[in-house]
Amino acid sequence: MLVLGIESSCDETGVALFDQAENRLLAHTLHTQMAMHADYGGVVPELASRDHIRRLVPLTEECLQAAGKSYDAIDAIGYTQGPGLGGALLAGAAFANALGFALDKPVIAVHHLEGHLLSPFLSESAIRFPFVALLVSGGHTQLMAVRAVGEYELLGESVDDAAGEAFDKTAKLLGLPYPGGAKLSQLAEQGEAGRFDLPRPMLHSGDLNMSFSGLKTAVLTEVNRLRATHGDTLPESLRNDLCRAFQDAVVDVLFTKARAALHSTGLKQLVVAGGVGANRALRARLKTLPAEVYFPTAEWCTDNGAMIAYAAAQRLAQAQPAGGFTVKPRWAL
Ligand code: KG4
Ligand code: ZN
Repeated sequence: MLVLGIESSCDETGVALFDQAENRLLAHTLHTQMAMHADYGGVVPELASRDHIRRLVPLTEECLQAAGKSYDAIDAIGYTQGPGLGGALLAGAAFANALGFALDKPVIAVHHLEGHLLSPFLSESAIRFPFVALLVSGGHTQLMAVRAVGEYELLGESVDDAAGEAFDKTAKLLGLPYPGGAKLSQLAEQGEAGRFDLPRPMLHSGDLNMSFSGLKTAVLTEVNRLRATHGDTLPESLRNDLCRAFQDAVVDVLFTKARAALHSTGLKQLVVAGGVGANRALRARLKTLPAEVYFPTAEWCTDNGAMIAYAAAQRLAQAQPAGGFTVKPRWAL
């Protein structure tokens, strides 16, 4: 069974071909629109949709060619049905459904977060159900108990900004180019710890929920205070120390809540997924937990077609191919 996966929920067009019988990714192609949106300081939905429309066919043909397969070899097509940008999702949904219709093959609607949740399986064969998943992306920060494919229990989540969103917004207010999350974390590595005392909102809330928007505001307050003495351009060392303080606070909260989630569920494995999972400080800290901790390789942390092809293949294996030509911009897992 060869499953084609299509991802188009935000600013990456991803296509992948997964061999279900061999449990192996045959090929994948990806185009990121990051440079296109950088001029605007954030994703422009209409531009994103147009770019997905332009890229989907060439990326699919490139992917098939890399795998040495033709369209006829495809047995099923998985696509991201949501959550995400409506127009961007529609581009992928239309393409996947048209292809399914033309080839007379099943079309499987995939939840984007399920793709992220299962993505560590693409690079790690030791993970076994059940486990706790820490999903930290640009749009979501959630702790889940994952008992099987399709059996996900939400343990806690961010009540406001997602961790990645907080990284990006904080980077923006520090004058870093979009999307600044990764850049901020690089600068943090050059910064000195303990130079700024930033809050850890909801650290002791007694539940597994988190909050990151107050942290961003605290950075803004510091920046305004520093600008009063140093002018608009902060000295590099101060900026790096501030990046470090911000990152340390986020890592502290994610670490503490992940530890509590392992404790309350009694589970012994933690699987980290989503773009913020690429953060080195977070990885190092989580590795100190008394649990098996798994991270997807950096390649599978951010949006890609492989995780969608993989999730679709798992659904197919369980005979759960829920398809249909629709999109769900807002969709709880
Ligand atoms: O999973 P993803 O592609 O986003 C969504 O599907 O929403 O992850 C993108 C997010 C962005 O917010 C980006 O700034 C953040 O992940 N990110 C990082 C790092 N690399 C990417 N945040 C912190 N440290 C990093 N090294
Ligand atoms: Zn994502």
